[in-house]
Amino acid sequence: MKAIHVGLLGLGTVGSGVVKIIEDHQDKLMHQVGCPVKVKKVLVKNIDKERQVHIDEDILTTNVDDVIKNPDIDVVIEVMGGVEETRKHIIEALQAKKHVVTANKDLMAVYGTELISLATEKGCDLFYEASVAGGIPILRSLVDGLASDNITKMMGIVNGTTNFILTKMSKFGSAYDDVLKEAQELGYAEADPTSDVEGLDAARKMAILARLGFSMHVDLEDVKAKGISSVTDDDISYSKRLGYTMKLIGIAQKENGKIEVAVEPTLLPESHPLAAVNDEYNAVYVYGEAVGETMFYGPGAGSLPTATSVVSDLVAVMKNMGLDVNGRSAIAPQFDKQLKSPEH
Ligand code: NDP
Ligand code: HSE
Repeated sequence: MKAIHVGLLGLGTVGSGVVKIIEDHQDKLMHQVGCPVKVKKVLVKNIDKERQVHIDEDILTTNVDDVIKNPDIDVVIEVMGGVEETRKHIIEALQAKKHVVTANKDLMAVYGTELISLATEKGCDLFYEASVAGGIPILRSLVDGLASDNITKMMGIVNGTTNFILTKMSKFGSAYDDVLKEAQELGYAEADPTSDVEGLDAARKMAILARLGFSMHVDLEDVKAKGISSVTDDDISYSKRLGYTMKLIGIAQKENGKIEVAVEPTLLPESHPLAAVNDEYNAVYVYGEAVGETMFYGPGAGSLPTATSVVSDLVAVMKNMGLDVNGRSAIAPQFDKQLKSPEH
């Protein structure tokens, strides 16, 4: 029986979760796509590092060509992070006609349009569900479940690290630096957590949400971002005393063909649904003209939740490869769209 061979770029927090889910859920994957899924090669930086999952040593490599130019590999999963070097790898993988799954919002917020059009030209899938809100299937909900509606507003908590920090500061009076360190140890924070705490990670995610939700091109430079690094213990305790909860909120709105996207710390009344979203959890409120209000909630960061989105993208790729033997018509919705430019 043919197997699908997967190559990974990266075996850190998310990559380890991907390997674990592929192993532990092999029966489910077989049921979904009708053939085994095997991890063939994994690119890492340091081959001698202790790993969070068991992996045969001969699968690890420090040579990217062993993954992206490997004729036996059908799908490349990029979970190494970074932008310029990673963009080069993904371009080469697509040129070699590999389907690509990525969790990389830094990359997709800046080079998404370019990479999606290359993928389309090469007849490959490029899916990136894990890039926004970790384990919440929000992108597929926008391009599939809400495809018929005219979405005019999206608002939510899309960064797990900052929500974890604000929750611990507010509930337990924990010190900012200590909780940031804890978020790093738990694998929630980016390699450089500046992007989390300065609101840039959330800005990139809001740009991706706005692009897919409004079907319009959104420049990251047009997203206003303010983070939580200057929020003090006093700010949190005063707001609590007044009956408010501080959250880092991203908002994207479309009105008369114009869109506005911003991220900033916001005081919410304690009764507000987003005020109850705690720890590393995320929530995205989506308003559509026909559907009205919808809300998506779940873990926004961490190994297995994020890996669930990555491996579900892999299943979507495999279904599009025509591997479904269970008699369903299984064309997974494409993330690419003809984007209109917003008016400025
Ligand atoms: P980690 O830092 O835990 O892992 C990165 C992995 O990539 C490591 O295995 C590292 O190798 C490898 N790597 C990094 N740079 C290179 C390089 N230049 N050459 C070869 N290998 C390299 O990152 P995460 O798993 O946390 O994140 C991965 C991606 O997923 C990022 O884009 C992140 O933004 C995104 N993401 C992360 C989430 C999370 O909760 N952590 C959630 C959603 C998305 P080695 O192990 O040898 O050092
Ligand atoms: N650093 C990110 C966060 C990971 O904390 O939300 C998930 O994208």
